[in-house]
Amino acid sequence: MKAVIVAMAAVAAVMVSGAASAADPVALTKEFKGDCLACHSVEKKLVGPAWKDVAAKYKGQAGAHDMLVEKVIKGGKGNWDKVTGGQVMTPHAAKPSKEEIGKIVAAILELK
Ligand code: HEC
Repeated sequence: MKAVIVAMAAVAAVMVSGAASAADPVALTKEFKGDCLACHSVEKKLVGPAWKDVAAKYKGQAGAHDMLVEKVIKGGKGNWDKVTGGQVMTPHAAKPSKEEIGKIVAAILELK
């Protein structure tokens, strides 16, 4: 009986941590070996805007996800010049892949 309870607790722990990482853009970035964290964090502006500020800016906007995926792939500036002083995001043409960037951006947009 005790072994069963321990096993169930272990399964529950895996389920909880799996769910957390699916929506955590930092964990996804590490998993996909993206360089994003050199310039971004969730809470604070580094070189680029804080990801929670990105989520707030595009909250409820249709098409924001696809636009942002394109932006991350192509790089550029212009939308955050007041925050960043006109810093440029480097292009990400190959790594992470478009699909992986899509997952990271989706997780960014879910931030509150
Ligand atoms: C060299 C630094 C740098 C790296 C590396 C970087 N970013 Fe950025 N990021 C920026 C800057 C600067 C901006 C602001 C661009 C602007 O003003 O439009 C930005 C903006 C963004 C935005 C908002 C774009 C917009 O137009 O509102 C998202 C989303 C984003 N980055 C995600 C990522 C992801 C995901 C990665 C990793 C694959 C990444 N960034 C890597 C510097 C960087």
